[in-house]
Amino acid sequence: MSINKEIRRVTVHTLKRMKTAGEKISMLTAYDFSLAKILDEAGIEVLLVGDSASNVMAGHETTLPITLDQMIYHASSVIRAITRALVVVDLPFGTYQGNSKKALASAIRIMKESGAHAVKLEGGTSVKESIRRILKAGVPVMGHLGLTPQSIYKFGTYVVRARQEEEAEQLKADAKLLESLGCFALVLEKIPSELAGEVARSVSIPVIGIGAGNQVDGQVLVTHDMLGITKEFRPRFLRRYLDLYEEIKKAAMAYHQDVKDQDFPNESEQY
Ligand code: KIV
Repeated sequence: MSINKEIRRVTVHTLKRMKTAGEKISMLTAYDFSLAKILDEAGIEVLLVGDSASNVMAGHETTLPITLDQMIYHASSVIRAITRALVVVDLPFGTYQGNSKKALASAIRIMKESGAHAVKLEGGTSVKESIRRILKAGVPVMGHLGLTPQSIYKFGTYVVRARQEEEAEQLKADAKLLESLGCFALVLEKIPSELAGEVARSVSIPVIGIGAGNQVDGQVLVTHDMLGITKEFRPRFLRRYLDLYEEIKKAAMAYHQDVKDQDFPNESEQY
């Protein structure tokens, strides 16, 4: 029987057991109560309150502008919706880099004020002191390597990362470092599938991929992308399960017309 079906609540230990048993982990982003409730009921193991909220909820071009207060607002909405999934919250840009005391204070605010179960942050060796301090306080940490969108102005573009040997070697070393520090899992974003597989096999913690192929321990997508709510974003790795942009537009146009035609509300829709 699948581990997912056996358990009442997903914990960081469940994910480890899933990796050991070879059962793949599903993770999706969530930022609000209504959608999080559906995803939790669907059996998704991990809900990520991603800083991609900056893009898909707030319309910013990058993830950089979103604040800690805004992340806490999204996370507490998600927490109120779930009964089973593990909820991981991104530490936003500027709240953990370069100052491990500040990183701990940010993580504690997320855990205390939202009720989330874990935090995620981007980077390897450059943020190791922050990771160490957060873990020491008992807060589970998920790492994030490869394309790290908070560093987009350093990279310059959103192209596939770690194609060159030097960057691939650094990524492999960072993955081992995150494991040795005590991170419970790791996201690999937009790197070659072979490299992602090698990393997943080299560490004992679950490796969740986005644009990292099928040799990893689980997959994550931005929910608004896989539902087809965002229209322009069409990377090769994205599978769209619905075209909600068109569906919602059609529904809104039908409502608009019904109002104009005085067809809505009808007799049975009024008091
Ligand atoms: O913020 C986010 O949605 C993420 C995923 C892309 C992994 O970090």
